[in-house]
Amino acid sequence: MKRTVIKGTGRYVPPRLVTNDDLAKIIDTTDEWIEQRTGIKQRYWIPEEGNVGASDLALEATKIALGRAGWKPEDIDLIIFATLSPDIYFPGSGCLLQHKLGLDTTPALDIRQQCTGFLYGLTTADAYIKSGYANRVLVVGAEVHSSGLDITDRGRDVAVLFGDGAAVVCVEGVETDANVGVLTSKLHSQGKNADILMLEAPASKYSERITIEMIEQARHYPKMEGKAVFKLAVRILPEVAQEALAGAGLKIEDIDMFFPHQANLRINQFFQKTMGIPDEKIFNNIQKYGNTTAASIPLALDDAMEQGLIGKSGDTVMFIGLGAGMTWGAVIYRFQ
Ligand code: UT7
Repeated sequence: MKRTVIKGTGRYVPPRLVTNDDLAKIIDTTDEWIEQRTGIKQRYWIPEEGNVGASDLALEATKIALGRAGWKPEDIDLIIFATLSPDIYFPGSGCLLQHKLGLDTTPALDIRQQCTGFLYGLTTADAYIKSGYANRVLVVGAEVHSSGLDITDRGRDVAVLFGDGAAVVCVEGVETDANVGVLTSKLHSQGKNADILMLEAPASKYSERITIEMIEQARHYPKMEGKAVFKLAVRILPEVAQEALAGAGLKIEDIDMFFPHQANLRINQFFQKTMGIPDEKIFNNIQKYGNTTAASIPLALDDAMEQGLIGKSGDTVMFIGLGAGMTWGAVIYRFQ
């Protein structure tokens, strides 16, 4: 039977380190507030002068992942690019990355599932592989948030949360009788909650997609009802984790490491407590990177693998997250 297995991972963040204290010099916030509420100590942002897009960060992460997989760019059958911050409005960043990799006509698709983007991307890759449509898929999560944040007192509740970064996973279809690879995926969305976390403008539904008035009202910046998102996350993440465990016929003890989306350390601590997960079985690196949205789960995976914490044959992990849409999901994966 064909199984979807990870052949290589890579991550890249831009070099500009921005600490909480750096932000406190620009806006009315403190290191204590940010750390106590979110766990974040620092994040990386693209250079102030800009000109670095999600596809540029993704290119660097891809080079590392390809090297570890032993693939050349030509080996890729399909690029799946998850981002809420594409380089430009259209075409998608997948096409831009495809060109930067020196490829000619390799298919590329962008997906827009925000913090759940990697889970949707990996599941889509699994479906393409199992249907025989592609066998080697590059699953990318990459974001440039910093150029789209309201870095003023007005936007402080959101601006302190987000970091720029990219992470990439090379997945391949392998014929095996072993129960390995992507074991199960459970995905959900709920558009009725679209407005608790959104970026409205520019919007094609208006005759003028963006106006001076909209800019003055900050409608071109992300808007979040933080408490509402927090409450949904702590209720839904344990539910979807149980759904995924049931789907794979596994118990919580069978999971060697949980990789929750890195939105807020406190959300992940609630999740850990509700599920009864021991400290050594949950991986968080939001302290170093902030919330990198579609990049956060693969960025955590790559970090943990590099530290030698996970990745042995038979190791079983759960990727889990929730984000704008609302969208949420969980994927259980076993290393070959
Ligand atoms: O990845 C996408 C999914 N996103 C999430 O999962 C985020 C979920 N939500 C959260 O993580 C939290 O709601 C936040 C970290 C965003 C906010 O934490 P909170 O405990 O819900 O704070 P709050 O928004 O209720 O604000 C509490 C106080 C307010 O002041 P008053 O009204 O009590 O005087 C805010 O004005 O904190 C103030 N505040 C800040 N103070 C210092 C808001 N942002 C800041 C800031 N620095 N950056």
